[in-house]
Formats: sequence, C-alpha cells, structure tokens
Amino acid sequence: MSNLKQRFDAVAQKWDQNNMRLSLAKNITDAILDSVSFSKDDRVLDFGCGTGLVGLNIAPFIGKLIGADLSSAMLEQFQRKADESGLAHVETLALDVDADFGSLQVDRIVSAMAFHHIEEPARLMQKFSRILSAEGILAIADLAKEDGSFHSDNTGVYHFGFSHEEWVHFFVENGFKKPSFVKAHTVNKNGKTYEVILSFAAKA
Ligand SMILES: C[S@@+](CC[C@H](N)C(=O)[O-])C[C@H]1O[C@@H](n2cnc3c(N)ncnc32)[C@H](O)[C@@H]1O
Repeated sequence: MSNLKQRFDAVAQKWDQNNMRLSLAKNITDAILDSVSFSKDDRVLDFGCGTGLVGLNIAPFIGKLIGADLSSAMLEQFQRKADESGLAHVETLALDVDADFGSLQVDRIVSAMAFHHIEEPARLMQKFSRILSAEGILAIADLAKEDGSFHSDNTGVYHFGFSHEEWVHFFVENGFKKPSFVKAHTVNKNGKTYEVILSFAAKA
C-alpha cells in the first residue's frame, strides 16, 4: 500500500468534518461552475475526488460522474454520499496516476487539491488529454506557489503549489488551448494566506 493511500484512507471518514475544507471545496465548485460549461450529456471525471466535496455538487448538472481516487476509503465515502443523495449516475474508480486509463472517455475533467500530490503532473495531463473528447475541458484547482507551510506534514506533497507559468506549460505541451486562471479561494491558516487558483483550458 502506498504511503499516500494509507494517509488518505486514514482521514477519509472524518474528511468532511473540517470547515476549512468545506468552504475551500464550495468556492472551488463555484469557480468551476462559473468557468466551465456543463451539459446533461457530459461524462465528467473528478480526479482525486476524495469524498466528493466538489464532484458531487457538479453531479446535478451532468450526465455521468466518475469519481477517481487512489484511496478506497475516500471512494467509499464518495459512493455513500452519492447513494444517500439518490445520485444514480455516479460511479467510482480506484485509480492511481500510474494506472492504465484504458478505454475511459470523458467530456470534462475536474480536479481539486490533488495535483500537489502528483509527482509528474505533465504525465498525468498527457493521460487526461488522451481520454478527453475533442471538445473536452480540463479544470484543475490547486495552491498557488507557497513556502511549504500549507501542510503540517509534507510527506507525499511533491509541489508547494504551482505558478501560472507551470500550468501554461502543462496545458500547452499536452494540446490544450489558451489556459485561463481565476482565484477560487484564499485559505487563512496559522497567520498566513494561501491562494487557490482554478486553471482551465479546452482541447479545441
Ligand atoms: C487534498 S485531497 C482533495 C480531495 C477532494 N478533491 C476535495 O477537494 O475535497 C487529495 C485527494 O487526491 C487523492 N490522490 C492523491 N494522490 C493521488 C494519486 N496519485 N492518484 C489518485 N488520487 C490521488 C487523495 O487520495 C485525496 O483523496
């Protein structure tokens, strides 16, 4: 079992009991819904979905939601919440970055606060580009560059946030056009502020 899986499995049950996470996820969800068009035909992948604080709130506007995560305990919470809300068009996928995404095809990919845990973001963006339909859109929310103090334990944190330049590089190298950026949220923690940016771009 990877350290990251172990770490997120251990916190899954209590994940939603943290107000900072709830307001962060709400503002990320609002930023995604303001910036990305969704239709009732869309198949949407929420990568690093956790308990579904973002994806499950997009579910009412789309045709199918696939919540993907390496943590089986997170996916259990995600599915439980979907079932309790009567969301029948939702499924989960146990998936690590290194997995073969196989025949998965989607119209939109969203991801919230997962990319700083991804060692090689460019490789994952390449996979995303391959599974997105021709008109597909990718929207990723994550920390702007920070000084390494956001997490109390940086085990499994591969990036202390990202700059706009890094996102432009990841997007453009993988065939996405004209990346855009909006500030989704500011986290106030231990006397410091951390900006969370939504970066998004379309394939066509
Ligand atoms: C900070 S949490 C965010 C969860 C959720 N998106 C939210 O906003 O509440 C990061 C999530 O990414 C998942 N994750 C981290 N590394 C991953 C990887 N390599 N492959 C798939 N999921 C990963 C974790 O299991 C965790 O659920």
